[in-house]
Amino acid sequence: MTSRPIITAPDPRLQAVSTDVETVTDEIRQLVDDMADSMYAADGIGLAAIQIGVAKRVLVIDLDQKEGNKNPVPYINPKIVWASEEMAVFEEGCLSVPEIWDDVERPARIKCEYLDRDGNKQVVEADGMLATCLQHEMDHLNGVLFIDHLSRLKRGMAIKKLTKAKKLKETA
Ligand code: NI
Repeated sequence: MTSRPIITAPDPRLQAVSTDVETVTDEIRQLVDDMADSMYAADGIGLAAIQIGVAKRVLVIDLDQKEGNKNPVPYINPKIVWASEEMAVFEEGCLSVPEIWDDVERPARIKCEYLDRDGNKQVVEADGMLATCLQHEMDHLNGVLFIDHLSRLKRGMAIKKLTKAKKLKETA
């Protein structure tokens, strides 16, 4: 496994629409392992492939990380097939949007179809953190960041802050 650098906003690559995985090959499993490594290295709970520059519809999520107990779950070609009318608000952050957290409202419960690491079709009914996390990561596959869900004013402030932080980093 190799930890790869995570792309941070603003960056046009994060706006790319990722494409479906045709077949779950060893190459895809390698990608999944690299994604998990990159996610743990950055202390994250979820990662989309585009965040390490690969425009494929692959996510990795691990919501119950305990010391020495890692269980990264890959979601390949994930698709929401049902969403509740009931909404839920969680404070979100993102490895590609460093140092910014804000409340985002999304459907409280979803049903999601995806392929597992062996290419088998799976269905998960998610609520709570997993529902939010899956929707946040699936947004990445469509080039959408959580700050895109904020008011125009808040989003503008976030982009300004990110641009400034990036410039400081470049000149450091
Ligand atoms: Ni994210």
